[in-house]
Amino acid sequence: MMPGNLSGGASPEMKVPIPASAKRRSRDERGRLDYRKTSLTPRSLFCWRERPVLSDDTGEGNVPTLDNRITSVVWQGDSVSILDQRKLPSEEIWIETSDYRLVIESIQNMSVRGAPAIGIVGSYGLVLAAMELAQTANGDFTDRLHATARKIREARPTGANLGWAVNRMLSGAASAQTTEEVVADLLSEATRIHREDIESNRQIGRNGARLLPWGSTPLTHCNTGALATGGHGTALGIVRTAWADGRIERVYATETRPLLQGARLTAWELERERIPASLIADSASGIVMRRGLVHAVIVGADRIAANGDVANKIGTYNLAVLAKENGIPFYVAAPTGTLDISLSVGEEIVIEERDEDEVLGYGDTRSAPQGMSAFNPAFDVTPNRYVTAIVTELGVARPPYRRSLATLMEQNHESPLSLDGRGLEPAPYHDTGVRVKNLD
Ligand code: MRU
Repeated sequence: MMPGNLSGGASPEMKVPIPASAKRRSRDERGRLDYRKTSLTPRSLFCWRERPVLSDDTGEGNVPTLDNRITSVVWQGDSVSILDQRKLPSEEIWIETSDYRLVIESIQNMSVRGAPAIGIVGSYGLVLAAMELAQTANGDFTDRLHATARKIREARPTGANLGWAVNRMLSGAASAQTTEEVVADLLSEATRIHREDIESNRQIGRNGARLLPWGSTPLTHCNTGALATGGHGTALGIVRTAWADGRIERVYATETRPLLQGARLTAWELERERIPASLIADSASGIVMRRGLVHAVIVGADRIAANGDVANKIGTYNLAVLAKENGIPFYVAAPTGTLDISLSVGEEIVIEERDEDEVLGYGDTRSAPQGMSAFNPAFDVTPNRYVTAIVTELGVARPPYRRSLATLMEQNHESPLSLDGRGLEPAPYHDTGVRVKNLD
């Protein structure tokens, strides 16, 4: 049997291709401060309190991050670094792992969160799994890779981007003949997904910012920023772009109980960008809308059905109903990887229910009395009738969504920003030349 042949497994001397641009540094040079032993192999995890070395190298297999001030995922050549979002804003701790199991755990425990960021990390997780299987599988490489892909896909059920990215990864490596080729193809696809997400967010920012009146004050929910994506952000990316353009005066950010993604993460991003913001309790959203303080509500999405029903962070539906009641436009921002036109309506979207302890207290502090139980849906579905427009990297879709989203997906196959990444500029942040095509 050929070494590294897919049916025969890998030879012991097989070398997993590491991009030349991804130069490894010794652990000590990286300023590691804190090493925590886990049940996983010792080299699979370490944490340190400094950012990993970011790269301005746009070569194959490397996603440039240098001019992106906030980033939560960095590919390191044979491991992935994840900024632990559970610890923000009090501590900036990075988890580096070469173990796909820890990647799955990081998605489940929300060290990494936000639908696009989960898709990117899941993609790198599949690369890590292939690297490991290339060394250990014995004639069952493909079967085990597909089984692992399934586990990664199922790590969190509501966000579409994870399954979308994993499926795209497998298609990208479908014609590989050897385990080496599978690993190389998966890595190329993962870095393409990562780069495209950054570029998509920039375009979403441009497409969405022009919807906001000059001098306006939008309200946003949860965290949809650079932390939740490859960079820049979706709904918060629109806020970033609009602020840079001088369109908005300030932004209202909801706390987003129970895990406080707004109070901890959006506030952290806005503070770092010096964007004037007011944090409000989720329950204050009614008064700020009724008093005319909010001119648009902009949220992200975890999965959008073919009819434009939107699953997003719990509380989004409340905001949408309040926005309609107060005559305020309600915008949803998401890359096309979040569209799931295989689902006809929002009722078909699986809503993740998380541990009741997240509601019964916060962190280690319990606020509810012992014996109390809780219901903790992590997301809700906003019916399309409340959605003024859906802003994607390819344009702005408006009702009726079944038609406008279908048009968008058809256009997607021809666009320079198409799902297979053809025609993308090598570096993110460059204008791809794709102009907004309004689907009104
Ligand atoms: O549970 P989370 O924090 O992963 O939920 C995040 C959201 O609901 C975001 O709004 C969504 O993923 C879009 S992020 C660009």
